[in-house]
Order: sequence, then structure tokens, then C-alpha cells
Amino acid sequence: MAIDILLLGKDGQVGWELQRALSPFGHMVVPEIGECDLANPDQLRSVIRATKPALIVNAAAYTAVDKAESDADVARAVNAVAPGIMAEEARKLDAWLVHYSTDYVFDGSKAGAYIEEDVPVPLSVYGATKLQGEQAILETGCRHLIFRTSWVFAARGGNFARTMLCLARERDALTVVDDQFGAPTSAELIADITALCLRDVLRGGEAKQGLYHLVAAGETNWHGYARFVLEQAAQTGAALKCRPEDVSPIPTSAYPLPARRPANSRLDTSKLKREFDLYLPDWTYHAKRMLTEILAKERA
Ligand SMILES: NC(=O)c1ccc[n+]([C@@H]2O[C@H](COP(=O)([O-])OP(=O)(O)OC[C@H]3O[C@@H](n4cnc5c(N)ncnc54)[C@H](OP(=O)(O)O)[C@@H]3O)[C@@H](O)[C@H]2O)c1
Repeated sequence: MAIDILLLGKDGQVGWELQRALSPFGHMVVPEIGECDLANPDQLRSVIRATKPALIVNAAAYTAVDKAESDADVARAVNAVAPGIMAEEARKLDAWLVHYSTDYVFDGSKAGAYIEEDVPVPLSVYGATKLQGEQAILETGCRHLIFRTSWVFAARGGNFARTMLCLARERDALTVVDDQFGAPTSAELIADITALCLRDVLRGGEAKQGLYHLVAAGETNWHGYARFVLEQAAQTGAALKCRPEDVSPIPTSAYPLPARRPANSRLDTSKLKREFDLYLPDWTYHAKRMLTEILAKERA
């Protein structure tokens, strides 16, 4: 049965992949940012009321983590207030809401991987506003799936891997922090898992609604991730000034940024895998695909 879908944030890393992965579900309305600015509650409400979707998917967010520290009002409007409005409207329409959140809701002080029930303690404005967005959805009581993910990458859009490739062409050596741990997660994987979970809940699995951790398997730190990116690039013969072995580890304290990051971003995905009977591949699987795609385009 085809349903009407409203997809917000269509041009972001995850939004772009959702345009592909959700297309078999039904007719998708994908507004431009100017047509549906999440910082404008009235516009957001009228788009939802005009569209009357059976499913709202929110891939839009204020994701500039450092800028959010000095732009808290806009970050709060987009990340905290807007999801609450979506949830209210979804409840009135009896629609589903799919929303994404982040590892940055945690302070990173736990020894192991975080489970969904762990108490969030955000260190940054971004993390705090994303947590408020989750809470607004849960309080409203609409049918929902919230996926917390981490370190998102895609061949399209800005991300750490692309930044490392650019810097390695310009500089002889790089320093990258090695004391923050997590799982780089592909936007493709997030979109595909979203589609599989949606199929399940829409076909009678309503009891599975809730909050889930959705990250790739395995883990690394930013230094390990940077070296992996340059190793893959070097293997394809990319012209780099900086070789993988010229990337040196530094502590977070040597690279101060406006927003504090958790040292431990590990998210436990047992609940997602168990409830939806899913396998999550190692982060390197999709990272290799992304790099192959980026480097092939550059050679073309
Ligand atoms: N990126 C990560 O590493 C990461 C990590 C953990 C969780 N997440 C979460 O995963 C989700 C998807 O992230 P992503 O990496 O795909 O983000 P992204 O690439 O930054 O995309 C976010 C999208 O939201 C749009 N947007 C920003 N402000 C808006 C507004 N006021 N009104 C309407 N649209 C607006 C952006 O448009 P413009 O580009 O035009 O601003 C962009 O298309 C988000 O909920 C994010 O918090 C991301």
C-alpha cells in the first residue's frame, strides 16, 4: 500500500539517501529549505497540514556543532522546537514520525557503549537541543521511530573524510585527535535501515516504535579514521602530499573547539538488531564504498 510521505532535509547527507531508500513506500513530498524552514514554526505547521502525510521523516537539523554554541536560539528552534511541532501534527494526523538524533546527547564518561536507557548529559548546545527534540517527540506521544546515530558520512555533502582528503592534498603532515571513540556511519546505511524498520512498523509492528541506536559496527577514533581514509586514497594512486603515516595523533586538549565533544561516542545497537532482526556491517564497509565513489569521480 502506497503512503504519502513528507521528507524534510532532502539535501542533507541522510536526506539525500532517504530520497532513494523511501521511494518504494509511496509518493514523497520533498520541500526546498525555503518552502519549509524549520526555524519558522508557522511555515512548518502549514506545510504539514497542507500535505497531510501518513509519514513525516525529519532528516533536517542544525548540524554545525561549533557554530551552535554562539547561535543557540536558531539551533534550538530547528533541533528542539521543530521536532515537537512535527510530533504534534503527526499525532493529529495519526501519522508516523521518523527522526534522527545523536551520540552528542551523552557526555562520554561511560566506560562501555551507551544503551538507549542511559541518562543523557549533553556537553554542547547542539547535543542539548537534539536531546530536547527527542524529548518533545516522546512527550507528544505520536507514533515514532527515533534513531540516534554518529559520525555520519556520505559521498555527497561535507564530512570528516572529505575534509581529510582535501587537507592531505594541501599539507605534508596532519595532526588529528585520537582520544574520541565512535563509529563512522554511512548515510546510505542509515537510510536503508530506516526503510527496513519502517516496513516492519507499518506492517503491524507498531509495538516496535521507540528510540534506537543506529550506528555501524566496529569503532575507531578520529586519528584512525583519518589514516584509513588516506590509506584507501593512496591505494588508488591519489596524489597526496600527506601519507597515512604522516598523520600524527594528538589529544583533544591540543585541538580546542567551541563545542565540547564526548570522548566515548560508542552506541550499543543490540536493541535495534534484536527488535528488527538486522545486521549492521563494520564501518569500514561503507567507508570504502564512499571513498571509491569520491576518488573515481575525481579521476573522471
Ligand atoms: N552529521 C553527523 O555527523 C551526525 C552525527 C550524529 C547525528 N546526526 C543527525 O543525523 C541527522 C542527519 O544529519 P546529516 O549529516 O544528514 O545532516 P546534514 O548533512 O547537515 O543535513 C541537514 C539538512 O538540514 C537542513 N537544514 C538546516 N537548517 C534547516 C532549517 N532551518 N530548515 C530546513 N532545513 C534545514 C540543511 O540544509 P542546508 O544544508 O541548506 O543548511 C541540510 O540539508 C540529523 O538529525 C543530525 O543531527 C548527524
